[in-house]
Amino acid sequence: MTRGRLPSPRPEVSSLPPSDHGAARLAEVRAYGQKAILDFSANVNPFGPSPRVYEALARTPIDRYPDRDTLLLREALAHHHGLTPAHILVGNGVSELILLVALTFIRPKDPCLIVEPTYGEYRRSVLLMGGHVRTWRAQAENRFRVCPQAITSLLQELPYRVVWLCHPNNPTGYPLSLQDLATWADAHPTTLFVVDEAYINFVPHLPSAISLQRPNVLILRSMTKDYALPGLRLGYAVGDPAIIQAMAQAQPPWSVNALAQAAGLAALQDPDHLHTTVRQTLTARDSLVTELRALGWRVLVASTPFFLMHVGHARRFRERLLAEGVLVRDGTSFGLPEYVRISTRRPQENSRLITILRRVYNDDH
Ligand SMILES: Cc1ncc(COP(=O)(O)O)c(C=O)c1O
Repeated sequence: MTRGRLPSPRPEVSSLPPSDHGAARLAEVRAYGQKAILDFSANVNPFGPSPRVYEALARTPIDRYPDRDTLLLREALAHHHGLTPAHILVGNGVSELILLVALTFIRPKDPCLIVEPTYGEYRRSVLLMGGHVRTWRAQAENRFRVCPQAITSLLQELPYRVVWLCHPNNPTGYPLSLQDLATWADAHPTTLFVVDEAYINFVPHLPSAISLQRPNVLILRSMTKDYALPGLRLGYAVGDPAIIQAMAQAQPPWSVNALAQAAGLAALQDPDHLHTTVRQTLTARDSLVTELRALGWRVLVASTPFFLMHVGHARRFRERLLAEGVLVRDGTSFGLPEYVRISTRRPQENSRLITILRRVYNDDH
């Protein structure tokens, strides 16, 4: 076949930054000659889903289309949050919902604000639509704390279409002040404040932006992390019915498959599993952090089961661990090339990491 000139993608697509994330990719695992990887790079409940999820999956027919309104799950989520199904849109993971926010609201050249360092898909979705990204960046010297006054001043400079916030934040684990958020949302009613609460269930008692009930605050919740369903892809947005309906208009039909819908319903029906496994994960994190510090590693503990660790050269460090069959998240794409992010796993798995990191520390010091 001769290859002449090809149809060209939109320039916004060609110039997108890469989509860097945790979780193992088969090609890389193969390249390192590994058969199995112990993955500390993805922030997923290490104790797995409720047994009820597997029972529900076995009962779910796949020879018919799923309900494209995801009604049963929306009803269950509405009941869970004390809202109505009209306040909820279910998506193929928060990843799809981030893209839907952009597709629905961002016009070319629209200014959008991102509080960094944070999850990279906010930036990619803005750029994909031809929007303009402005950032405010938390600094390591301040332990990555967000300065509310700085955000308040930035908000006064431009009529932002969308402001992206992550609560608690990935990768720093830092939570947002809801009082500040309420003030910003009230002062800028035509700006959509998107609050990604993908990890909120890992932080007991952390208040959710859902409680603010502001029409221009949209909350995104992942069910892939706390309920341990990353292979099924599931998340939902909570917001004003007009915002939710607009996003639903832009969503591809049947994007939430039948297995994901059934798994989400079953997971919600087993809150004890969630609470027990989150408690176990946080206990495991505390032991892991204590041991890492005892070895001499500089760890920045946050509210979440994942945390940043200072390693000097994150890319090389990650590769070195990959050669040992262990994966951590390189912080370079977050603009943190000296840090890796480590997600707590089960105690025995954490012990294996400690054994490797003891050797690495001793080799380097
Ligand atoms: C902050 C944040 N939001 C969203 C996602 C994507 O979540 P999902 O698996 O629901 O698409 C991630 C995944 O790493 C994340 O870290």
